[in-house]
Amino acid sequence: MAESDLDDMTALLSDPEVMRHYPAPQSRKEAEDWITWNVRNYAEHGFGLWIIELTDGTFIGDCGLTVQDVEGERLVEVGYHVCAAWQGRGLATEAATAVRNAARDAGMPHLVAIIRPANRPSQRVAQKLGLRLERRIVNNGGEDLVFGADLQALP
Ligand SMILES: CC(C)(COP(=O)(O)OP(=O)(O)OC[C@H]1O[C@@H](n2cnc3c(N)ncnc32)[C@H](O)[C@@H]1OP(=O)(O)O)[C@@H](O)C(=O)NCCC(=O)NCCS
Repeated sequence: MAESDLDDMTALLSDPEVMRHYPAPQSRKEAEDWITWNVRNYAEHGFGLWIIELTDGTFIGDCGLTVQDVEGERLVEVGYHVCAAWQGRGLATEAATAVRNAARDAGMPHLVAIIRPANRPSQRVAQKLGLRLERRIVNNGGEDLVFGADLQALP
């Protein structure tokens, strides 16, 4: 993800359909901040959310790793957002599986996905990655489900 992705990332993050489980769709300025945050994460952690694209360069969305605070614990989360027009074709699962495998191969011990109870497609993707419901937490005034797995124990 880089500054040059701003038009695509604004289209993705300003779409009410894509952001329906978030507090609100994001503005162009917020999409710019999102890119800046990920570029900083690449430098600080060696990972962040990356761009998902087809082999011909068509923009699909983003997927990758971020550090999240879960009840005071710093945990690594797999995240994914796919343009509405490209959902339902297995692309989030394909991208997130590659991210999970890279995290496992790099020796990361544990991976989580923090998901709203109503977000069934995201829970399904997490389950297909081998993540299982570990706990329920209160986050930003609502309940979140924390799916997770010990990566080194996965087949
Ligand atoms: C979550 C998201 C990334 C999934 O992307 P995708 O490319 O459509 O995902 P996939 O096609 O790989 O898999 C989706 C799975 O959810 C299932 N699904 C879709 N709608 C569903 C529903 N309403 N209820 C239950 N399962 C559903 C699909 O059937 C599929 O599972 P299957 O392969 O077992 O059939 C996409 O819906 C999205 O961008 N949502 C908005 C952003 C978001 O909420 N991100 C996650 C934040 S935690």
